[in-house]
Amino acid sequence: MTDQQLLEMAKGAMQFAYAPYSGFLVGAALLCDDGMVYCGCNIENASFGVTNCAERTALFKALSEGKRHFQAIAVIGGQNGVCSDFTTPCGMCRQALSEFCKADFRIVLGDDSGSIKTMTLGNLLPGAFQL
Ligand code: THU
Repeated sequence: MTDQQLLEMAKGAMQFAYAPYSGFLVGAALLCDDGMVYCGCNIENASFGVTNCAERTALFKALSEGKRHFQAIAVIGGQNGVCSDFTTPCGMCRQALSEFCKADFRIVLGDDSGSIKTMTLGNLLPGAFQL
């Protein structure tokens, strides 16, 4: 599974985004250590705080099927599905990922031009909270 393939899967998931309030569509694809990929989209709610991001949708799908070890997540998104910039995981998603992923977990960002930027969870969430 290449980073480009993972991003294509994230883009595919973006089509299922339910975002009638923001119009900002996001897709994510989470690569497990065993090679399986779980995709997710953002799911908004009239009570805005209930909204679930694409990254946590993918993570919770994988966790709920017993997966615990992950290599990378690809994320792509944009207003009305136009992905002109990189979309980085929000703080809540970074913290959710940090429960299961180490600092070297890769976060693959893409846009519609085909540019790819790879970061790590350690880059994006230094000093993650732990009990
Ligand atoms: N969103 C995500 O799905 N992932 C992110 O990393 C950032 C934000 C969603 C939440 C909401 O539905 C919309 O994008 C606008 O914030």
